[in-house]
Amino acid sequence: MGNFEGKVALVTGGAHGIGKGIAKQFADKGAHTIIVDYNEENGVKTAEELTFGNVKSLFVKTDVSDPKALENVREKVFAEFGRIDILVLNAGVAFANKVNNISFEEWNKTLAINLTGLFNTVKAFYDDFLDNKGSIVYISSGSALSGTGGGVSYPASKAGGEGLIRGLAKELGPKGVNVNAIAPRLIDTGEMMRVNYPTQADLDAVLEKIPVRRLGTIDDVANLAVFLADPDNSYIQGQTILMDGGRTIA
Ligand SMILES: NC(=O)c1ccc[n+]([C@@H]2O[C@H](COP(=O)([O-])OP(=O)(O)OC[C@H]3O[C@@H](n4cnc5c(N)ncnc54)[C@H](O)[C@@H]3O)[C@@H](O)[C@H]2O)c1
Repeated sequence: MGNFEGKVALVTGGAHGIGKGIAKQFADKGAHTIIVDYNEENGVKTAEELTFGNVKSLFVKTDVSDPKALENVREKVFAEFGRIDILVLNAGVAFANKVNNISFEEWNKTLAINLTGLFNTVKAFYDDFLDNKGSIVYISSGSALSGTGGGVSYPASKAGGEGLIRGLAKELGPKGVNVNAIAPRLIDTGEMMRVNYPTQADLDAVLEKIPVRRLGTIDDVANLAVFLADPDNSYIQGQTILMDGGRTIA
């Protein structure tokens, strides 16, 4: 397990945080990476960092909520690498407003990125997976279960994504494609998480609820993403694996 030499892995939201950590692990294990992100500065930097030895990395500035942009990504991937093996569906946004303060614009934007963005990415590459097996890993969130992590639009979008993944596993499982999700909770990327835990006192209070008494790390998630994407992992299918330091069983 763990050798991805010559494979091609695309990570949405791969310019920062969890997505960047996942892309780095694939590159370290020999895969070429495509960084799909709307942050150009971070995307260019990440692709430079992940180009070394025999591995290349391509940044494509993209808003995953735009289906045409994903078609453009596919064209660039095939022009550069001629194949796709792994999709990591990671791009996501969260807003902390309560229902009475969520505008329709904010609701629609959250779903457009977090849910329709998955559909757009999968649809652009669907036919390629019919021919080439491979793996799809979705970065969901424990919030789909807990209802936390932002205003209701966030857990709603993540729960929708998990449904999409289950349906996709039924479609692509028979074609030899692994389709699974990781549902992290409180991964220390320094930013997205801290929207909900702005002070040290807030963080300390939440650590009391986590049996392992620490926040998750980007590598915790990346390790599991790489495991799930490995071709040797062929009997975990359509699952969402909760990664929350045991909080949910506490
Ligand atoms: N950090 C956590 O504690 C945590 C917990 C549970 C789930 N998650 C999920 O993990 C994923 C990554 O989160 P993170 O904490 O690394 O966030 P992050 O903000 O550090 O990174 C997200 C990346 O996605 C990109 N992005 C956002 N919207 C985009 C769009 N429309 N098109 C293209 N790129 C876009 C951003 O530019 C950024 O580079 C998200 O889906 C998030 O919901 C994070």
